[in-house]
Amino acid sequence: MTILVTGGRGKTGIALSKLLHDANLPFLIASRSGQATAPYKAVIFDWADPTTYENPFKADPNIDRIYVVGPEGIYDALPAVKPFIDFARTKGVKRFVLLGASRLGAGDSFLGAVHQYLIDIGVEYAVLRPTWFYQNFSTTLLSSIRDSNQTFSATGEGRMAFVSTEDIAQVALEALTAEPSLNKDILIFGPELFSHDEVAKLFSSILGREITHKKITTEALEKIFAGFGVTQQYAEGYANLEKEVSLGLEEKLFNSTNHQKFIGKRTLEEYIKANRDLWIKQ
Ligand SMILES: NC(=O)c1ccc[n+]([C@@H]2O[C@H](COP(=O)([O-])OP(=O)(O)OC[C@H]3O[C@@H](n4cnc5c(N)ncnc54)[C@H](OP(=O)(O)O)[C@@H]3O)[C@@H](O)[C@H]2O)c1
Repeated sequence: MTILVTGGRGKTGIALSKLLHDANLPFLIASRSGQATAPYKAVIFDWADPTTYENPFKADPNIDRIYVVGPEGIYDALPAVKPFIDFARTKGVKRFVLLGASRLGAGDSFLGAVHQYLIDIGVEYAVLRPTWFYQNFSTTLLSSIRDSNQTFSATGEGRMAFVSTEDIAQVALEALTAEPSLNKDILIFGPELFSHDEVAKLFSSILGREITHKKITTEALEKIFAGFGVTQQYAEGYANLEKEVSLGLEEKLFNSTNHQKFIGKRTLEEYIKANRDLWIKQ
């Protein structure tokens, strides 16, 4: 058994790699750079470049399960992800664990069609559907907090149970190794609901200076995304996910009893305290 970790240098991929390493399970990181932090092994892999599809299997012919983090910035990921899923099956891969998102079910936009495809082809699978990550505050929102003392979102007063990527990785590990395969989707939340205003207050108390949450419109968020070179459809789709939070739909999902859920134990306060120096200008 070997697990291929796509997105292995990303937020959940890093956390999953650490768990796999600690559990002494064989794994290989796939990255466009072909690089990983020592002692992990990596290969060059690009969803958009079929000439790289063979690389993981040349490096390790025992790959039989894959953690799937789809390519960034694509509104419908199926055309980009399907060719490699099909190729991997010809190489003996039996199980796919897809990183999806709380607000996206099977057949929805972004990775929803990939979720549906895994069901349709009858492979062993699991779909992780986490809410927004704590780690966004130390990546996408890092410079905004550190240099401008503010976060921004189109989530208004809406609340969500932000979650740690370490908790997501724990569920990924279970989904990759469970026998029999889980063959289901799992919502993944942190333990507490927060609005972005409440997160900003928590940052303020831990950092000892005022951090505010700038409430922006979905149109303004679309413009920010458009600046990153994504399509208008992607920008609108992402902005709509934040709008749904503002309408209370994410809080409703957290409180719903109709879904299989995993509630992480790591708190937002612990995460901010452990990483406090990141948001302080040196
Ligand atoms: N961030 C959140 O709050 C959140 C919440 C719920 C769901 N999600 C979902 O989680 C997924 C990951 O999002 P993220 O923001 O956390 O990003 P991330 O995992 O930190 O980074 C994206 C990863 O994808 C890899 N990647 C991007 N394009 C690629 C390509 N063409 N070929 C191969 N690898 C590629 C990158 O690897 P290299 O650069 O090394 O190639 C990188 O490791 C997305 O599908 C997102 O919808 C995110």
